[in-house]
Amino acid sequence: MAGRVEGKVALVSGAATGIGESIVHLLASEGARVAVADIDETRGGEVAAGIRKAGNEAIFIPLDVTNEESWKHCIESIETQFGCLNILVNNAGIAIVESVDKMLFEDWRALMAVNVDGVFLGTKHAVPAMRRSGGGSIVNISSILGLTGLEKLSAYCASKGAVRLFSKAIALECARDGSGIRVNSIHPGYIHTAMMEDTCRRDYGDIPTGLSELGKLHPIGRVGEPEEIAAGVLYLASDESKFVTGSELAIDGGYSAA
Ligand code: NAI
Repeated sequence: MAGRVEGKVALVSGAATGIGESIVHLLASEGARVAVADIDETRGGEVAAGIRKAGNEAIFIPLDVTNEESWKHCIESIETQFGCLNILVNNAGIAIVESVDKMLFEDWRALMAVNVDGVFLGTKHAVPAMRRSGGGSIVNISSILGLTGLEKLSAYCASKGAVRLFSKAIALECARDGSGIRVNSIHPGYIHTAMMEDTCRRDYGDIPTGLSELGKLHPIGRVGEPEEIAAGVLYLASDESKFVTGSELAIDGGYSAA
């Protein structure tokens, strides 16, 4: 049976670990040829090698999402090696926890560079490649904190809110120009990754206590797993969602419904 993204070429930023790693594994297992792109060359290379070992197609491409030349090189490499680009998942992101009066401007800008500039640059350079490929799907990983605010996470909330509306604006641009490119955002609740383990240690002293306490914030009663976000990406990346653009998909155990 054909996979759900059979024959497509996918690029996922921040794919060396966490949610991005789950996304590349799932897309590859459903038939996509995947580019694992990350600033972490060691882990990124290992993820691509693991996918190949499982019998699927993957390459690693070093990518710093804050750097325009790095994006150009990344997308050129994909077109050279795979011949087209059909799926972009802007997943790389960072968080900084600080009250607004103590936050350094350089930290604010560093976060915006990854979470907002990175999504802009990826989209800017993927759109022409997707046009050459006859269409595509861009999935931007925002957050529940792009829908609601949280204290000490003002920079993160501002960046994820920006990703939400950037996605809608580009969805309209691409729908109206007939390019066949769709753009949607995903809004994960707390997901069990290295990023969240940092939060557990910092705010609750250890990981099990943090997991349990953060789980209570979600009406379903637990935090999410990376695979649960990857499942949403697969739907938005596949042709099953061909009438879906400009939408926001909360995968958050009910967090944002309250
Ligand atoms: P993570 O910290 O586990 O992994 C992030 C990956 O991005 C790492 O491989 C890192 O090397 C890479 N990266 C960082 N800066 C980069 C740069 N400049 N260029 C290229 N790659 C870079 O993060 P996680 O938890 O997997 O998060 C993935 C996305 O999901 C992020 O956008 C995050 O904001 C979002 N998210 C995560 C949630 C969570 O609870 N874990 C909740 C909601 C959203």
